[in-house]
Amino acid sequence: MSQFGSDFSANQYGAIVFQGLLEVDQDDLGPTPPNWQGADYDKLNKYGFICSLLHGAVPSKPVQYYAQRKGGGLLHAVIPDEKMAATQTGSGSKTDLYVHTEDAFLLNQADFLSFLYLRNEERVPSTLYSIRSHGAVNENMEKLFDPIYQCPKDANYEDNQMNPGPTASVLYGNRQLPFIRFDAAEQIFNENAGQTPEALYNLTEFWNEAKELINSEYVPNSGDVIFVNNHLCAHGRSAFVAGQREENGKMVKCERRQMLRMMSKTSLIHMRSVTQTDNPYFVMEEHLGNIFDLD
Ligand SMILES: [Fe+2]
Repeated sequence: MSQFGSDFSANQYGAIVFQGLLEVDQDDLGPTPPNWQGADYDKLNKYGFICSLLHGAVPSKPVQYYAQRKGGGLLHAVIPDEKMAATQTGSGSKTDLYVHTEDAFLLNQADFLSFLYLRNEERVPSTLYSIRSHGAVNENMEKLFDPIYQCPKDANYEDNQMNPGPTASVLYGNRQLPFIRFDAAEQIFNENAGQTPEALYNLTEFWNEAKELINSEYVPNSGDVIFVNNHLCAHGRSAFVAGQREENGKMVKCERRQMLRMMSKTSLIHMRSVTQTDNPYFVMEEHLGNIFDLD
């Protein structure tokens, strides 16, 4: 993990899949609650402890974001919610969740993410996409270093239509081996994104190349953990019907999907201007450097 945390090379995809890292006692876990608000953390915290050890080994510190569930703790249960089924959020299910880097609309987005699968009986493929899959930076990718791109706040917000807002670059860091901030759904397919024609053209050209490089082969099993460098690798998942899976051409009932997400930062010092006065693990950034005004 320590090596993964500092490997930004051409050969580093930016995600590690730990298959069968732990055993999840399905009876002890009980039925999946109807939504994340119903999660029982007395049962989940031991799994969170395992995740925190992985983040710690990078080393990176688990943090929480006001922009996601107003914080809601360091560990988030991600559960399909019937009322949110059609949304581009962790609670969605009915539509493909387009690949995105987590919180692309924040300058202090998570550095590392873990996804621990408690159950995935619907056998929903997880998608991963790495900026490294393009090989060398090409002519179109060069244009993505310009800070001209809208990054709308995501669908977890009700008022995500205040565009045009602040802009950012898609690629950043090293010019030859860049990092990426990208959300296909919000930046390209959101009609209210407010991109200029030039920005939208560049994003679309990039997407036409990127979408061919998405890996959607991997179907997580209970006990698997995906660990992601959020600056190299984007994630998403295929559409599914919560609580049903196909068996011999017929849909049969199953327990609904349940996953645990943890996010971490390698430095609390560099983002101190956007964390709570009394809690430097609590990020209050709202949108590309702006801070939530809660008064
Ligand atoms: Fe995500």
